[in-house]
Amino acid sequence: MKVHEIQSAFGLEHLKLTQRARPEPGPGEVLLRMQAMSLNYRDLLMVTGRYNPRQPLPLIPCSDGVGEVVALGPGCRRWQVGDRVATVFCQSWPGGEPDRDKLRSTLGGPLDGTLAEHMVLPEDGVVAVPGHLSAVEAATLPCAALTAWSALVTYGSVTAGDTVLLLGTGGVSIFALQFVKLLGARAILLSSSDEKLEAVRHLGAWQEINYRNDPKWGKTVLGMTDGRGVDQVVEVGGAGTLEQSAKAVKIGGQISLIGVLSGHASELNILPLVMKNVRLQGILVGSRDGFETMNRAIDAHRLKPVVDRVFPFEAARDALAYLAEGKHLGKICLQTG
Ligand SMILES: NC(=O)c1ccc[n+]([C@@H]2O[C@H](COP(=O)([O-])OP(=O)(O)OC[C@H]3O[C@@H](n4cnc5c(N)ncnc54)[C@H](OP(=O)(O)O)[C@@H]3O)[C@@H](O)[C@H]2O)c1
Repeated sequence: MKVHEIQSAFGLEHLKLTQRARPEPGPGEVLLRMQAMSLNYRDLLMVTGRYNPRQPLPLIPCSDGVGEVVALGPGCRRWQVGDRVATVFCQSWPGGEPDRDKLRSTLGGPLDGTLAEHMVLPEDGVVAVPGHLSAVEAATLPCAALTAWSALVTYGSVTAGDTVLLLGTGGVSIFALQFVKLLGARAILLSSSDEKLEAVRHLGAWQEINYRNDPKWGKTVLGMTDGRGVDQVVEVGGAGTLEQSAKAVKIGGQISLIGVLSGHASELNILPLVMKNVRLQGILVGSRDGFETMNRAIDAHRLKPVVDRVFPFEAARDALAYLAEGKHLGKICLQTG
Protein backbone atom coordinates (compact mmCIF):
# COMPACT_ATOMS: atom_id res chain seq x y z
CA MET A 1 0.00 0.00 0.00
CA LYS A 2 1.03 3.60 -0.59
CA VAL A 3 1.98 5.74 2.43
CA HIS A 4 3.58 9.12 2.97
CA GLU A 5 6.58 8.85 5.31
CA ILE A 6 8.99 11.18 7.02
CA GLN A 7 11.91 8.79 6.58
CA SER A 8 15.23 9.82 8.07
CA ALA A 9 15.10 13.62 8.18
CA PHE A 10 12.49 16.29 8.84
CA GLY A 11 11.43 18.78 6.19
CA LEU A 12 8.66 18.95 3.58
CA GLU A 13 11.17 17.94 0.92
CA HIS A 14 11.82 14.70 2.85
CA LEU A 15 8.17 13.63 2.96
CA LYS A 16 8.22 10.60 0.67
CA LEU A 17 5.43 8.71 -1.06
CA THR A 18 6.51 5.11 -0.60
CA GLN A 19 5.25 1.55 -0.06
CA ARG A 20 4.60 -0.45 3.11
CA ALA A 21 3.08 -3.89 3.52
CA ARG A 22 -0.67 -3.75 4.12
CA PRO A 23 -1.24 -4.37 7.85
CA GLU A 24 -3.50 -7.15 9.18
CA PRO A 25 -5.93 -6.49 12.04
CA GLY A 26 -5.10 -8.32 15.28
CA PRO A 27 -7.50 -9.08 18.14
CA GLY A 28 -9.86 -6.16 18.78
CA GLU A 29 -8.58 -4.22 15.76
CA VAL A 30 -10.13 -3.00 12.51
CA LEU A 31 -8.59 -2.61 9.07
CA LEU A 32 -9.62 0.61 7.32
CA ARG A 33 -9.40 1.47 3.64
CA MET A 34 -8.74 5.19 3.93
CA GLN A 35 -10.95 7.50 1.86
CA ALA A 36 -9.99 10.99 3.00
CA MET A 37 -7.70 12.91 5.36
CA SER A 38 -7.48 16.49 6.58
CA LEU A 39 -4.46 18.56 7.51
CA ASN A 40 -3.81 20.48 10.70
CA TYR A 41 -1.13 23.05 11.48
CA ARG A 42 0.35 20.44 13.84
CA ASP A 43 1.03 18.14 10.86
CA LEU A 44 3.12 20.84 9.24
CA LEU A 45 5.04 21.35 12.49
CA MET A 46 5.55 17.57 12.77
CA VAL A 47 6.81 17.11 9.19
CA THR A 48 9.20 20.05 9.50
CA GLY A 49 10.56 18.84 12.86
CA ARG A 50 9.21 21.77 14.89
CA TYR A 51 6.62 19.80 16.86
CA ASN A 52 8.91 17.19 18.36
CA PRO A 53 12.46 17.15 17.01
CA ARG A 54 13.05 13.90 18.99
CA GLN A 55 10.16 12.06 17.27
CA PRO A 56 11.53 8.64 16.18
CA LEU A 57 11.47 8.12 12.39
CA PRO A 58 10.17 6.83 10.05
CA LEU A 59 6.71 8.24 10.76
CA ILE A 60 3.48 8.38 8.77
CA PRO A 61 2.19 11.88 9.61
CA CYS A 62 -1.32 13.33 10.12
CA SER A 63 -3.97 12.58 12.70
CA ASP A 64 -7.21 12.98 10.80
CA GLY A 65 -8.82 10.51 8.44
CA VAL A 66 -11.95 8.67 7.45
CA GLY A 67 -12.04 5.13 6.14
CA GLU A 68 -14.28 2.20 5.45
CA VAL A 69 -13.95 -0.83 7.71
CA VAL A 70 -12.81 -3.62 5.35
CA ALA A 71 -11.78 -6.34 7.84
CA LEU A 72 -12.27 -7.13 11.52
CA GLY A 73 -9.73 -8.76 13.84
CA PRO A 74 -10.83 -11.54 16.22
CA GLY A 75 -13.20 -10.37 18.97
CA CYS A 76 -14.11 -7.09 17.29
CA ARG A 77 -17.64 -6.12 18.34
CA ARG A 78 -18.17 -2.39 17.80
CA TRP A 79 -18.03 -2.38 13.99
CA GLN A 80 -19.12 -4.23 10.87
CA VAL A 81 -17.44 -4.45 7.48
CA GLY A 82 -18.70 -1.49 5.42
CA ASP A 83 -18.99 0.98 8.34
CA ARG A 84 -17.51 4.44 7.75
CA VAL A 85 -15.43 5.71 10.65
CA ALA A 86 -13.10 8.54 11.62
CA THR A 87 -9.83 8.27 13.51
CA VAL A 88 -9.65 9.37 17.16
CA PHE A 89 -6.79 11.85 17.73
CA CYS A 90 -5.78 10.48 21.19
CA GLN A 91 -6.17 6.74 20.69
CA SER A 92 -6.14 5.90 24.41
CA TRP A 93 -8.33 8.72 25.76
CA PRO A 94 -11.87 7.34 25.91
CA GLY A 95 -13.18 10.06 28.24
CA GLY A 96 -12.72 11.81 31.56
CA GLU A 97 -9.63 13.84 32.33
CA PRO A 98 -6.44 13.17 30.35
CA ASP A 99 -3.23 11.75 31.81
CA ARG A 100 0.26 11.33 30.42
CA ASP A 101 -0.38 7.96 28.72
CA LYS A 102 -3.59 9.16 27.09
CA LEU A 103 -1.86 12.24 25.73
CA ARG A 104 1.00 10.14 24.34
CA SER A 105 -1.33 8.05 22.20
CA THR A 106 -1.74 10.61 19.42
CA LEU A 107 -1.85 9.75 15.72
CA GLY A 108 0.64 11.36 13.35
CA GLY A 109 3.29 11.33 16.09
CA PRO A 110 4.27 9.50 18.17
CA LEU A 111 1.96 6.89 16.54
CA ASP A 112 1.84 6.42 12.77
CA GLY A 113 -0.91 8.55 11.27
CA THR A 114 -3.45 8.66 8.50
CA LEU A 115 -1.45 9.36 5.31
CA ALA A 116 -1.77 5.72 4.24
CA GLU A 117 -4.07 3.78 1.93
CA HIS A 118 -4.86 1.34 4.75
CA MET A 119 -4.68 1.62 8.55
CA VAL A 120 -5.12 -0.82 11.41
CA LEU A 121 -6.49 0.71 14.62
CA PRO A 122 -8.01 -0.62 17.84
CA GLU A 123 -11.79 -0.76 17.47
CA ASP A 124 -12.03 1.88 20.24
CA GLY A 125 -9.72 4.17 18.27
CA VAL A 126 -12.36 5.12 15.69
CA VAL A 127 -15.84 6.68 15.86
CA ALA A 128 -18.87 6.63 13.56
CA VAL A 129 -19.23 9.73 11.41
CA PRO A 130 -22.42 11.76 10.83
CA GLY A 131 -24.29 10.26 7.88
CA HIS A 132 -24.91 13.56 6.05
CA LEU A 133 -21.18 14.23 5.61
CA SER A 134 -19.00 13.10 2.69
CA ALA A 135 -15.78 11.28 3.58
CA VAL A 136 -13.82 14.49 2.91
CA GLU A 137 -16.11 16.55 5.15
CA ALA A 138 -16.00 13.96 7.94
CA ALA A 139 -12.19 13.82 7.73
CA THR A 140 -12.08 17.42 9.02
CA LEU A 141 -13.46 16.46 12.43
CA PRO A 142 -10.89 14.53 14.55
CA CYS A 143 -8.56 17.40 15.52
CA ALA A 144 -9.72 20.92 14.57
CA ALA A 145 -13.44 20.44 15.18
CA LEU A 146 -12.98 18.55 18.45
CA THR A 147 -10.50 21.15 19.70
CA ALA A 148 -13.03 23.92 19.08
CA TRP A 149 -15.78 21.83 20.70
CA SER A 150 -13.64 21.05 23.77
CA ALA A 151 -12.82 24.74 24.22
CA LEU A 152 -16.40 25.97 23.89
CA VAL A 153 -18.40 23.11 25.40
CA THR A 154 -16.39 20.49 27.31
CA TYR A 155 -14.07 22.95 29.07
CA GLY A 156 -16.14 26.07 28.42
CA SER A 157 -19.68 27.00 29.16
CA VAL A 158 -20.62 28.99 26.10
CA THR A 159 -24.35 29.51 25.99
CA ALA A 160 -26.99 31.46 24.08
CA GLY A 161 -26.29 35.20 24.07
CA ASP A 162 -22.57 34.87 24.87
CA THR A 163 -19.90 36.58 22.79
CA VAL A 164 -16.79 34.64 21.76
CA LEU A 165 -13.60 35.97 20.20
CA LEU A 166 -11.98 33.85 17.47
CA LEU A 167 -8.49 34.41 16.06
CA GLY A 168 -7.88 33.82 12.36
CA THR A 169 -9.73 31.76 9.79
CA GLY A 170 -8.00 28.39 10.01
CA GLY A 171 -9.47 24.99 10.79
CA VAL A 172 -10.01 25.44 14.55
CA SER A 173 -11.41 29.00 14.33
CA ILE A 174 -13.89 28.30 11.52
CA PHE A 175 -15.25 25.25 13.39
CA ALA A 176 -15.45 27.44 16.50
CA LEU A 177 -17.48 29.98 14.49
CA GLN A 178 -19.90 27.26 13.41
CA PHE A 179 -20.26 25.89 16.96
CA VAL A 180 -20.69 29.39 18.44
CA LYS A 181 -23.64 29.89 16.09
CA LEU A 182 -25.02 26.43 16.87
CA LEU A 183 -24.93 27.31 20.60
CA GLY A 184 -26.86 30.55 20.01
CA ALA A 185 -23.87 32.75 20.84
CA ARG A 186 -22.18 35.37 18.66
CA ALA A 187 -18.63 35.55 17.32
CA ILE A 188 -16.14 38.35 16.78
CA LEU A 189 -13.54 37.09 14.34
CA LEU A 190 -10.04 38.37 13.56
CA SER A 191 -8.22 37.90 10.27
CA SER A 192 -5.27 39.38 8.42
CA SER A 193 -7.32 39.43 5.22
CA ASP A 194 -10.31 41.65 4.35
CA GLU A 195 -11.36 39.08 1.76
CA LYS A 196 -11.53 36.37 4.43
CA LEU A 197 -13.40 38.73 6.78
CA GLU A 198 -15.99 39.21 4.05
CA ALA A 199 -16.30 35.42 3.76
CA VAL A 200 -16.74 34.88 7.52
CA ARG A 201 -19.48 37.53 7.55
CA HIS A 202 -21.39 35.26 5.19
CA LEU A 203 -20.67 32.32 7.52
CA GLY A 204 -22.39 34.24 10.33
CA ALA A 205 -19.68 36.15 12.22
CA TRP A 206 -21.23 39.01 14.22
CA GLN A 207 -18.26 41.42 13.97
CA GLU A 208 -14.90 41.27 12.21
CA ILE A 209 -11.52 42.93 12.80
CA ASN A 210 -8.44 42.98 10.57
CA TYR A 211 -5.65 42.30 13.11
CA ARG A 212 -2.98 43.61 10.71
CA ASN A 213 -4.64 47.03 10.50
CA ASP A 214 -5.64 47.03 14.17
CA PRO A 215 -2.83 45.44 16.23
CA LYS A 216 -4.44 46.72 19.47
CA TRP A 217 -7.61 44.78 18.76
CA GLY A 218 -8.20 44.01 22.44
CA LYS A 219 -9.49 47.56 22.95
CA THR A 220 -11.63 47.37 19.80
CA VAL A 221 -13.25 44.18 21.11
CA LEU A 222 -14.00 45.91 24.41
CA GLY A 223 -15.67 48.74 22.45
CA MET A 224 -17.77 46.24 20.47
CA THR A 225 -19.02 44.71 23.71
CA ASP A 226 -19.84 48.02 25.45
CA GLY A 227 -16.74 47.73 27.63
CA ARG A 228 -17.75 44.34 29.05
CA GLY A 229 -15.41 42.07 27.09
CA VAL A 230 -16.06 38.64 25.57
CA ASP A 231 -17.13 35.57 27.52
CA GLN A 232 -14.45 33.41 25.94
CA VAL A 233 -11.41 33.69 23.66
CA VAL A 234 -10.45 30.72 21.48
CA GLU A 235 -6.72 31.52 21.58
CA VAL A 236 -4.84 29.98 18.66
CA GLY A 237 -2.31 32.80 18.40
CA GLY A 238 -0.23 32.10 21.51
CA ALA A 239 2.52 34.30 22.83
CA GLY A 240 2.04 37.16 20.36
CA THR A 241 -1.71 37.51 20.90
CA LEU A 242 -2.30 36.63 24.57
CA GLU A 243 -1.85 40.19 25.81
CA GLN A 244 -4.60 41.45 23.50
CA SER A 245 -6.80 38.46 24.36
CA ALA A 246 -6.40 39.35 28.05
CA LYS A 247 -7.66 42.86 27.23
CA ALA A 248 -10.59 41.53 25.22
CA VAL A 249 -11.90 38.97 27.74
CA LYS A 250 -14.53 39.91 30.31
CA ILE A 251 -14.06 39.80 34.09
CA GLY A 252 -14.49 36.12 35.00
CA GLY A 253 -14.18 35.02 31.36
CA GLN A 254 -12.17 32.15 29.88
CA ILE A 255 -9.20 32.13 27.54
CA SER A 256 -8.81 28.70 25.93
CA LEU A 257 -5.12 28.25 25.17
CA ILE A 258 -4.87 26.20 22.00
CA GLY A 259 -2.22 27.35 19.54
CA VAL A 260 1.09 29.02 19.14
CA LEU A 261 0.80 30.53 15.65
CA SER A 262 2.56 33.71 16.80
CA GLY A 263 5.10 31.96 19.06
CA HIS A 264 5.13 30.07 22.36
CA ALA A 265 7.20 32.28 24.65
CA SER A 266 6.86 35.91 25.59
CA GLU A 267 7.06 38.29 28.50
CA LEU A 268 3.52 38.82 29.70
CA ASN A 269 2.16 41.00 32.46
CA ILE A 270 -0.16 38.54 34.21
CA LEU A 271 -1.64 41.15 36.52
CA PRO A 272 -4.62 41.97 34.24
CA LEU A 273 -5.48 38.24 34.14
CA VAL A 274 -5.40 38.06 37.94
CA MET A 275 -7.33 41.29 38.47
CA LYS A 276 -10.01 40.16 36.00
CA ASN A 277 -10.39 36.73 37.60
CA VAL A 278 -9.76 35.16 34.19
CA ARG A 279 -9.63 31.39 33.70
CA LEU A 280 -6.79 30.14 31.45
CA GLN A 281 -7.73 26.72 30.11
CA GLY A 282 -5.22 24.68 28.11
CA ILE A 283 -6.88 22.46 25.50
CA LEU A 284 -5.40 19.33 23.92
CA VAL A 285 -7.96 18.29 21.29
CA GLY A 286 -10.27 16.06 23.36
CA SER A 287 -11.42 12.53 24.13
CA ARG A 288 -13.39 9.96 22.17
CA ASP A 289 -16.46 10.73 24.31
CA GLY A 290 -16.14 14.39 23.38
CA PHE A 291 -15.82 13.42 19.69
CA GLU A 292 -19.03 11.35 19.85
CA THR A 293 -20.94 14.10 21.68
CA MET A 294 -19.78 16.66 19.10
CA ASN A 295 -20.83 14.35 16.26
CA ARG A 296 -24.34 14.13 17.72
CA ALA A 297 -24.55 17.94 17.67
CA ILE A 298 -23.18 18.07 14.11
CA ASP A 299 -25.72 15.45 13.07
CA ALA A 300 -28.65 17.14 14.81
CA HIS A 301 -27.86 20.51 13.21
CA ARG A 302 -26.77 19.06 9.84
CA LEU A 303 -23.62 21.17 10.23
CA LYS A 304 -21.34 21.11 7.16
CA PRO A 305 -17.60 21.67 7.69
CA VAL A 306 -15.96 24.39 5.59
CA VAL A 307 -13.53 22.71 3.19
CA ASP A 308 -11.17 25.12 1.44
CA ARG A 309 -9.48 22.71 -0.99
CA VAL A 310 -9.15 18.98 -1.67
CA PHE A 311 -5.89 17.50 -2.99
CA PRO A 312 -5.36 13.97 -4.31
CA PHE A 313 -3.78 11.61 -1.75
CA GLU A 314 -0.53 11.52 -3.72
CA ALA A 315 -0.15 15.32 -3.43
CA ALA A 316 0.25 15.46 0.36
CA ARG A 317 3.42 17.52 0.08
CA ASP A 318 1.68 20.13 -2.11
CA ALA A 319 -1.23 20.21 0.33
CA LEU A 320 1.11 20.84 3.29
CA ALA A 321 2.93 23.56 1.31
CA TYR A 322 -0.47 25.17 0.64
CA LEU A 323 -1.25 25.02 4.40
CA ALA A 324 2.09 26.74 5.09
CA GLU A 325 1.11 29.62 2.77
CA GLY A 326 -1.85 30.40 5.08
CA LYS A 327 -4.19 31.37 2.23
CA HIS A 328 -6.85 28.86 3.23
CA LEU A 329 -10.11 29.41 5.11
CA GLY A 330 -11.31 26.33 6.99
CA LYS A 331 -9.87 22.91 6.21
CA ILE A 332 -7.48 21.47 3.63
CA CYS A 333 -8.20 17.82 2.75
CA LEU A 334 -6.84 14.87 0.79
CA GLN A 335 -8.83 12.20 -1.00
CA THR A 336 -7.77 8.73 -2.10
CA GLY A 337 -8.60 7.60 -5.64
N1 LIG B 1 -4.05 22.39 21.45
C1 LIG B 1 -4.65 21.66 20.53
O1 LIG B 1 -5.23 20.61 20.81
C2 LIG B 1 -4.65 22.12 19.12
C3 LIG B 1 -5.51 21.53 18.18
C4 LIG B 1 -5.56 22.05 16.89
C5 LIG B 1 -4.73 23.13 16.56
N2 LIG B 1 -3.90 23.63 17.49
C6 LIG B 1 -3.05 24.79 17.19
O2 LIG B 1 -3.93 25.89 16.91
C7 LIG B 1 -3.36 26.70 15.91
C8 LIG B 1 -4.33 26.78 14.74
O3 LIG B 1 -4.42 25.53 14.14
P1 LIG B 1 -5.22 25.33 12.77
O4 LIG B 1 -5.03 23.91 12.37
O5 LIG B 1 -6.57 25.91 12.89
O6 LIG B 1 -4.32 26.26 11.82
P2 LIG B 1 -4.57 26.77 10.36
O7 LIG B 1 -5.74 26.11 9.73
O8 LIG B 1 -3.26 26.71 9.66
O9 LIG B 1 -4.99 28.31 10.61
C9 LIG B 1 -4.06 29.29 10.82
C10 LIG B 1 -4.75 30.66 10.72
O10 LIG B 1 -4.55 31.37 11.94
C11 LIG B 1 -4.47 32.74 11.68
N3 LIG B 1 -3.32 33.36 12.35
C12 LIG B 1 -2.01 33.18 12.12
N4 LIG B 1 -1.28 34.00 12.89
C13 LIG B 1 -2.16 34.71 13.62
C14 LIG B 1 -2.04 35.76 14.57
N5 LIG B 1 -0.85 36.23 14.94
N6 LIG B 1 -3.16 36.26 15.13
C15 LIG B 1 -4.38 35.81 14.78
N7 LIG B 1 -4.56 34.83 13.85
C16 LIG B 1 -3.46 34.30 13.29
C17 LIG B 1 -4.40 32.93 10.18
O11 LIG B 1 -5.71 33.40 9.78
P3 LIG B 1 -5.90 34.58 8.73
O12 LIG B 1 -5.30 34.10 7.45
O13 LIG B 1 -7.37 34.77 8.68
O14 LIG B 1 -5.17 35.77 9.30
C18 LIG B 1 -4.12 31.53 9.66
O15 LIG B 1 -4.70 31.29 8.41
C19 LIG B 1 -1.99 26.08 15.59
O16 LIG B 1 -0.99 26.67 16.41
C20 LIG B 1 -2.17 24.64 15.97
O17 LIG B 1 -0.96 24.00 16.28
C21 LIG B 1 -3.83 23.15 18.75
